[in-house]
Amino acid sequence: MYTNPVLFARMLINNRRLWIPCMILCGLCAATLVLYQSDNNRHNVETYISSQTSQDFSFSSANSLTYDDVKLLLDQLFDSQMSLSGVQSIWNKLIEVWRGILTKFVHDACDLCHHNGSYCYDSIDITRYVHYINESFYPINEIKRPVGMGLYYHFDLKTLRSVNNSILPTDVSPCDYFHMLQLMINVQLILHQAQIKYFLTKGTLIGVLRHHDVIPWDTDIDLFIPQSATNKILTSFRQLEIPVIKGVSTTTTTTTTESSGIRLSKDRPSFHKDLVVYRFKNIYKVTSYKIFSLRSPIVNRTNYRWPKIDIFPYEENATHIYAYPKHQHNLGTMYYLAKTNVDPVYLRVLGPLLIPSPRHPRLSLKSMVRLGRSSVFFACEGNTFLHRYNRGPTDNWRVPCKELHKTYPFVKSERNATHSLCFEELKYPQSNRNLSLYKYRCEEDLPRTL
Ligand SMILES: *[C@@H]1O[C@H](CO)[C@@H](O)[C@H](O)[C@H]1NC(C)=O
Ligand SMILES: *[C@@H]1O[C@H](CO)[C@@H](O)[C@H](O)[C@H]1NC(C)=O
Ligand SMILES: *[C@@H]1O[C@H](CO)[C@@H](O)[C@H](O)[C@H]1NC(C)=O
Ligand SMILES: *[C@@H]1O[C@H](CO)[C@@H](O)[C@H](O)[C@H]1NC(C)=O
Ligand SMILES: *[C@@H]1O[C@H](CO)[C@@H](O)[C@H](O)[C@H]1NC(C)=O
Ligand SMILES: *[C@@H]1O[C@H](CO)[C@@H](O)[C@H](O)[C@H]1NC(C)=O
Ligand SMILES: *[C@@H]1O[C@H](CO)[C@@H](O)[C@H](O)[C@H]1NC(C)=O
Repeated sequence: MYTNPVLFARMLINNRRLWIPCMILCGLCAATLVLYQSDNNRHNVETYISSQTSQDFSFSSANSLTYDDVKLLLDQLFDSQMSLSGVQSIWNKLIEVWRGILTKFVHDACDLCHHNGSYCYDSIDITRYVHYINESFYPINEIKRPVGMGLYYHFDLKTLRSVNNSILPTDVSPCDYFHMLQLMINVQLILHQAQIKYFLTKGTLIGVLRHHDVIPWDTDIDLFIPQSATNKILTSFRQLEIPVIKGVSTTTTTTTTESSGIRLSKDRPSFHKDLVVYRFKNIYKVTSYKIFSLRSPIVNRTNYRWPKIDIFPYEENATHIYAYPKHQHNLGTMYYLAKTNVDPVYLRVLGPLLIPSPRHPRLSLKSMVRLGRSSVFFACEGNTFLHRYNRGPTDNWRVPCKELHKTYPFVKSERNATHSLCFEELKYPQSNRNLSLYKYRCEEDLPRTL
């Protein structure tokens, strides 16, 4: 009678007082299930494919350097005794390893999702992408010594993105995930080309800290850009113009706004040409810009498509940034955030990608996410609403992250206080290896469940 984990999860929603008794019940429940499991597979709460993956979990490495080699390089990269030229040479080696990881990702994905179609390969310009990221974060001088660096060394699209959990399920399949990142790579390219400052915010910031990836059960990528750059956004992408009659959209047309910055070669199909920006308004004003591909499916009863990147403009004065429009943010109140907690932005691991992230994660998160009294490292939140279909009940679920450790990968972090360095590794019980590694200069420890 108490064996339905979904009902349990619902009871736990935002009710921390129930946690302890519920966890005890869940424990009893799990114990019961273990007893049941030998002859009854219907109640597998952990994961649907755990048994398959633990058997043939073969990550082929795309690189000549091993995981341990990369770990050693990271140690040297942050060694204060290392000369600047030494740091530069290590950085270049790491970028080359990263290029290998990205290349493997694109090949795996195009094979799996597009039968090796040439449009798929052409849609991601790895050379240019790596060039922009390297150029922006290259340790050109002493001041630009890296603040953080790492790689998702063992990224296997099919295996990693096939896991699912009945408490916080994902509706993002491996190919959906690829399409999210295919979009993200192209959006990053355009942002770099147009010289627009951007960095991760909200759920995606939680994701890179806790999973070195998008939150496994999340569907969007969230970025911050300065309000002053919104004109550049509007000229860098085609604009989706929606004639609105009495609040109901009728037809959808697009207009092309040629950006001086974007010059596309005419001889190959371009993913960029399919990208549009849509101004998302509440009743007052534009609250975010949604960028998506016209090749993606429409989200029911909206003017946008999925996957999409949500870009939130922020206002700023000399010392602080704050969400725009002030206090009317559609995703809850955002507090002022000191620029010293944001700058210099540094690279974080988002699956096979590297993405600029605010400098002080804990303090930035505090201003960007409504945390309530709990920590995002202990409480995992999601909802039942299917964003990509714009349907379903909006029930928020909050479960202790611990209950998901056997299904989804989680970051384990260690801090070396004498050197103010933090080292993170991604743990995944279904494989007996560490999947990713990340090192950064950290002033404080982040709370961890692992
Ligand atoms: C990164 O950029 C620097 C400076 O432009 C360049 O010297 C270096 O070769 C680049 N590294 C890679 C791996 O492309
Ligand atoms: C794509 O190419 C790879 C390598 O050439 C091959 O092993 C794979 O079977 C191909 N996939 C499809 C779906 O054709
Ligand atoms: C994950 O499981 C849920 C049901 O719990 C299902 O609706 C969803 O489609 C699954 N996701 C994937 C990517 O298969
Ligand atoms: C989208 O809306 C149409 C019409 O209302 C409906 O038939 C369809 O099932 C919806 N699709 C999804 C995925 O919800
Ligand atoms: C910027 O705004 C914050 C929040 O209102 C305020 O505390 C700070 O003094 C302002 N800084 C400047 C230089 O005006
Ligand atoms: C901190 O790092 C230094 C240098 O890598 C190492 O010698 C020392 O043992 C580390 N301390 C701890 C507590 O791990
Ligand atoms: C994962 O990393 C930890 C810490 O570096 C190490 O002790 C452990 O042996 C690694 N696990 C595997 C399976 O390599």
